[in-house]
Amino acid sequence: MEERLQKVMAAAGVGSRRKCEELISEGRVTVNGKVVDRLGMKVDPQKSEIRVDGKLVTLPDRNYYILLNKPAGYTSTKFDPFAKKTVLELVADVSANLHTVGRLDVDTEGLIILTNDGDLTYRLTHPSHEIGKTYVATVRGKVDEDDLDRLRTGIQLEDGVTAPAKAKLLNVSPDGRRSTVELTIHEGKKRQVRRMFNAIGHRVEHLIRTKIGSISIGNLKAGEWRYLTDDEVKRLKESAQPKAKKE
Ligand code: URA
Repeated sequence: MEERLQKVMAAAGVGSRRKCEELISEGRVTVNGKVVDRLGMKVDPQKSEIRVDGKLVTLPDRNYYILLNKPAGYTSTKFDPFAKKTVLELVADVSANLHTVGRLDVDTEGLIILTNDGDLTYRLTHPSHEIGKTYVATVRGKVDEDDLDRLRTGIQLEDGVTAPAKAKLLNVSPDGRRSTVELTIHEGKKRQVRRMFNAIGHRVEHLIRTKIGSISIGNLKAGEWRYLTDDEVKRLKESAQPKAKKE
């Protein structure tokens, strides 16, 4: 049966559907030896020879779901030719074509999911599904109620206003020079948490993601990973259902 090329690529673990569309638009994908020059092309996954940057794409025989506590200093995309260290090196024992679900900045730590299930990635990273992502940010200065209200209501950034967030003050240092805030957002704008705090005058000094949906970092230390349990995968899939299909 024929399917859209980007869907087949995503199912093979190349990346999210959006990432696959980018690769196609950049002319990096060939089907049966010919560079694909348009989106929306249909292919038969059993018969077509698909290559990205010359590398053969094969459909996986099973899906992997991994939870990693990303240390600072690691890049979370495999497509960055300038990356010094990527999170994939930390899960090198897993012989599957993994990609990350969304991104964390190189200097951000914490939870990141790796999988070869491009379809789930597409759903989880689609803005309409609104999966909550929780961060703990240590920022400069004393965060007060007004600051928390601004974070909760929405902050004007250069690429739009942020959606309502949950914000909770966890701690202010005795000298008032540093505050720790737990922030839950549902979007994935570039460097969003850092830019939100910058906009209210509190530069982020340390940022860690502690939760994705209902999945928590638990006892995983920086650099450690584990497979998601079947139940966690099930919950993630449920939370990634399009809104209309939820009860
Ligand atoms: N927001 C940021 O500023 N950085 C991240 O890595 C994730 C969210």
